[in-house]
Amino acid sequence: MTPTQPPPAEPALKIGPVALANPFLLAPLAGLSDWPFRRLAKEAGAGLTVTEMASATALAHRGRATLALLTTDPGLEKPFCVQLFGKNPDHLAEAARVAVDMGADLIDFNLGCPARKVVGSGHGAALLKEPQTLLGLVRALVRAVRAPVTVKTRPAFAPGVGATVFELLPRLADEGVAALTLHPRPASAGFAGEADWSLVARLAEKSPIPIIGSGDVASPEQALERLRNYGAAAVMIGRGAKGRPWLFRQCLELWQGGRAREATPSERLATAERHARLLGEFMGRRAAFKLRTVLMWYVKGWPGAAEFRARLCREENLEAQLGLLAELARRQEKLQS
Ligand SMILES: Cc1cc2nc3c(=O)[nH]c(=O)nc-3n(C[C@H](O)[C@H](O)[C@H](O)COP(=O)(O)O)c2cc1C
Repeated sequence: MTPTQPPPAEPALKIGPVALANPFLLAPLAGLSDWPFRRLAKEAGAGLTVTEMASATALAHRGRATLALLTTDPGLEKPFCVQLFGKNPDHLAEAARVAVDMGADLIDFNLGCPARKVVGSGHGAALLKEPQTLLGLVRALVRAVRAPVTVKTRPAFAPGVGATVFELLPRLADEGVAALTLHPRPASAGFAGEADWSLVARLAEKSPIPIIGSGDVASPEQALERLRNYGAAAVMIGRGAKGRPWLFRQCLELWQGGRAREATPSERLATAERHARLLGEFMGRRAAFKLRTVLMWYVKGWPGAAEFRARLCREENLEAQLGLLAELARRQEKLQS
């Protein structure tokens, strides 16, 4: 998959001094957007990939598991964006410095995670209920590093609770935040209901900084529609890219006025195999466990997928898992020929 170039008519999006090649970005996905996943998205042409959220406290103390979340190849993942969560200004500042030392070009601050464990300890979206604390944390980050600091958030914690993103935006911009990603569902809704992109449009209308929209984009057509009709500087794709890294290639094809070519079954198989091997290199023997989830993304909709899953879960060896995958793909090809 060869990343294509942006059409000259549309200027490259810039976050501070950091230019993105195109406006189709891979969203951070805790537990999923590890280096192998980001690498495939990048190879397919994603304009930016973001690490899953890393605890600032753990990173400030150089915890091994958290450092592993920042695994990358600086030659391939450029720009490199590290997302942090935290509520201790010293830890956030130190974590940002560690991330920059490890090659981060951008630091993103998580102000949107609704997970009970995260919110329960006052992190992520819970900070929307404490705007003064939130702004103090952003200040600490911006002062700590020269790399641009961005934030990713929700419209509010819950309707009528704490500060809204509309109230916060000018203050965040004053603090030096370089861009804001909005996932337009209140944090209290988790992932229920539809993302309300009219909120992205309203926020982008008067924003002094680029606004990136994130939520429910599952096809290249939707990505283009969201980009063109809601004033977003870029579109972030999360769940829609699971097992479909070629979605970024398709977005670029459409953006450049062409047709979004569907992935063939053999491209699907080759990408799934590559994903498995990259995970094997990245995680060693533990990859077999993660592949029980990851390989299922790629075979979604294929007959026999349920039986495949049961067999996959019994295998602890990557080669055996790949054998099962090839068997299922052969059956699928026969059905399609
Ligand atoms: C499993 C999962 C993990 C996520 N992890 C993060 C995260 O680490 N940081 C973050 O800012 N958002 C996270 N999100 C939110 C996504 O980045 C994205 O904003 C949201 O899923 C909406 O986009 P989508 O419909 O394209 O998935 C996560 C979402 C899911 C489903």
